[in-house]
Amino acid sequence: MKSDNDVTVCEVGLRDGLQMLDTVFPTDEKIAWLRAEAAAGVPEIEVTSFVPPKIGPQFADAAEVVAAARSIENLISVALAPNLKGAQRGVELGVHKLNFVMSVSRTHNLKNVRREREESIADFVRIVEMLKSLPAGQRPRLIGGLSSALGCSYEGAIAVEEVVHCARALVDAGADELLIADTVGYATPTSVREVFKAVQAEVGNVPLSAHFHDTRGLGLANVSAALECGVRRFDASLAGLGGCQFAPGATGNIVMDDLCFMLDAMGMRTGVDLDKLVAVRAIVARNLPGTPLYGGLARSGLPRNYIPSAKRSA
Ligand code: COA
Ligand code: ZN
Repeated sequence: MKSDNDVTVCEVGLRDGLQMLDTVFPTDEKIAWLRAEAAAGVPEIEVTSFVPPKIGPQFADAAEVVAAARSIENLISVALAPNLKGAQRGVELGVHKLNFVMSVSRTHNLKNVRREREESIADFVRIVEMLKSLPAGQRPRLIGGLSSALGCSYEGAIAVEEVVHCARALVDAGADELLIADTVGYATPTSVREVFKAVQAEVGNVPLSAHFHDTRGLGLANVSAALECGVRRFDASLAGLGGCQFAPGATGNIVMDDLCFMLDAMGMRTGVDLDKLVAVRAIVARNLPGTPLYGGLARSGLPRNYIPSAKRSA
């Protein structure tokens, strides 16, 4: 039974972290990465993206990576799907969660998935119908992802009502959960509170998760604001890799290792072993020479005499 102190973290480095990089991360090293991070206690990992090979050459190995993820006990495998075809591939391969993506910003939606928002919503409805036709045991959970929900590098500010409108549409269509994403790092704690509270007021008990980029250094402050609003699931990427090839001006996701440290220090439970987690960075480092890796915990270590939250409450 989950308590209010339990927070789920989802590693998105294998998807968000790699999608913009020219270096193709070898399949066996992706598998080593996800195995090590699952062994460190990370419960959910977004392992791939079901996009056309021309758009995501990095994800040509989706079948192998998903199979490896599925073989890890207790790991929830997540994968991005921008359309029905991607969702069908996810079902074939047996991912546990599909992360459907559309943008609240009309311009970003046109650039990223080459369609109007209404067309994305119609596609989402088709995905739900497809999933409903499956036997219950084969049905992945469906995340309704709302990108560029807190700002857009094409349009600038995004109206809260627009986020609420898109959230309503995905929930009405049958989303199991919603993921509100600050794709380019425009959010502030104030805008986070405003948007998450407005969406919660609209969709009630549908679980909300948050996806923040640390472009302007406010990533963990935004997590703190989202926690206050009751959000208990966060995307992050080890060493802060990340970025969207169709959303210029963004840097990486919030740093997974620093997120887990902050949550642990606040007395929240993530199930993650911080030392083991930091050690996983070596796998990323050896495969991405020249790519900057971020993170305060990795740089400075745990505070002297630090007692992990699990031991404090025992
Ligand atoms: N997986 C694999 N192939 C796919 C696919 C998918 N999810 N969706 C479409 N295709 C194929 C089609 O079958 C078609 O192939 P063909 O040319 O051999 O007939 C081709 O791709 C074009 O299909 P179309 O439906 O016209 O897609 P599009 O060119 O309008 O692109 C998206 C639409 C959504 C597939 C594309 O814009 C996309 O993948 N966007 C995601 C971008 C991204 O990853 N952003 C970062 C994450 S937020
Ligand atoms: Zn992102």
